[in-house]
Amino acid sequence: MKRTEGNWLMPRVHLVLSQKGGVGKTTIAVNLAAVVAQTLGSDPAAPTVMVASIDPQASAVWWANRTDLDTLPFDFEQVDDRPDDVAALKKREEYEHIFIDAPGSLARPAVLARAMDSSDDVVVPLILEPLAYGPTERTVLDMIQPRGLPYRIVRNLWDRRDGRTDLELTTKWLDTQGFRYTNTVIRKYKMHSTASAEGRVCTQYPSGRTASEAQNDFLQLALELGYGGTV
Ligand SMILES: Nc1ncnc2c1ncn2[C@@H]1O[C@H](COP(=O)(O)OP(=O)(O)O)[C@@H](O)[C@H]1O
Ligand SMILES: [Mg+2]
Repeated sequence: MKRTEGNWLMPRVHLVLSQKGGVGKTTIAVNLAAVVAQTLGSDPAAPTVMVASIDPQASAVWWANRTDLDTLPFDFEQVDDRPDDVAALKKREEYEHIFIDAPGSLARPAVLARAMDSSDDVVVPLILEPLAYGPTERTVLDMIQPRGLPYRIVRNLWDRRDGRTDLELTTKWLDTQGFRYTNTVIRKYKMHSTASAEGRVCTQYPSGRTASEAQNDFLQLALELGYGGTV
């Protein structure tokens, strides 16, 4: 069921945002889109989920060029430096969910501003390293909170073999800041980085225990964020 506002059937727009590069924005945008499309039973011939990249470096395009777009469970579009095109995403009534993959820089400020104005909520990936704290803090304090947008930080790239220290330190920092974060932590799996190089998404992993564990993080995240069911 789609949300309505006025006479529009409106998609829910989720912005995946961080001023820091390499934290998993593209990975989280495409894999959330994949599990949500699968959960909704989206028809691959007419997907109800879309990933829109506003990253001028277009890592997602790089990624999409490596994949067979026809086999993806969601649509993919690169949005150029045209703020009106970003605002128009909200009116794409053929979609239930649109994930915007943002750049890891403040390039294209007008496009980014429109993306924030058009979004219903923001997902902020965070890696478990102190050097990521500063950019994350600026993302929340300077970009998200002034607009009153609901957001959740998602701790990404936890390598269980490293133990819990980095995870605990990062969580403590989040608590000290009073920032909101999901219970779900996205673990580090070689499969995710290989897949992104190959242009695959987690719903396309070969079956097996590791693959389903890896997939399950995104499924759990989608559920926790409330993207799974009707609104
Ligand atoms: N949970 C994860 N497990 C393994 N590799 C990951 C994970 N999240 C991200 N990566 C890898 O880290 C790198 C940066 O991720 P990416 O999604 O491109 O970040 P961003 O879009 O924020 O720059 C990529 O090589 C990606 O494959
Ligand atoms: Mg990216």
